[in-house]
Amino acid sequence: TERTFVMVKPDGVQRGLIGDVVSRLERKGLKMVGGKFMQIDEDLAHEHYGEHEGKPFFDGLVEFITSGPVFAMVWEGDDATRQVRRLMGATDAQEAAPGTIRGDYGNDLGHNIIHGSDHEDEGANEREIDLFFDEEELVDWDLSTADWVYE
Ligand code: GTP
Ligand code: MG
Repeated sequence: TERTFVMVKPDGVQRGLIGDVVSRLERKGLKMVGGKFMQIDEDLAHEHYGEHEGKPFFDGLVEFITSGPVFAMVWEGDDATRQVRRLMGATDAQEAAPGTIRGDYGNDLGHNIIHGSDHEDEGANEREIDLFFDEEELVDWDLSTADWVYE
């Protein structure tokens, strides 16, 4: 089992999609172990998106992610990082497949509703969890339906 960092971005919050995003991850069989409604400041935005510093879209990305509240979460499950990315769909919501969160709700590259740790970036999930959450904010609990999700 594995933990991953997930966030409903400011556009998703404004459009009332927190509940739907949470619901989709719940129905996938994943378990939420942390969540907080918060506003990202400039410093946190720079740290979180540090890999994109210097790219032409970086300033706009920081401006967007700090423009309003986000709902930051930690989810746990088998192969959780990659599974969340699959549910999210492609980065450009205009190209994301129907049935994915971005494909169903987004129509733009920048405003793409959800963030999830990159499964192709080794350790990104743990780094992002550490950046947004203190260990004592994460809850260790048993999901009673887990035996029905996993063989
Ligand atoms: P995140 O979950 O937000 O990290 O998205 P991602 O992992 O699918 O994509 P990536 O980390 O490569 O890019 C981070 C964010 O920058 C994306 O969500 C996009 O909104 C934005 N972005 C990425 N590439 C471009 C680009 O070429 N142009 C613009 N304008 N925005 C981009
Ligand atoms: Mg990314």
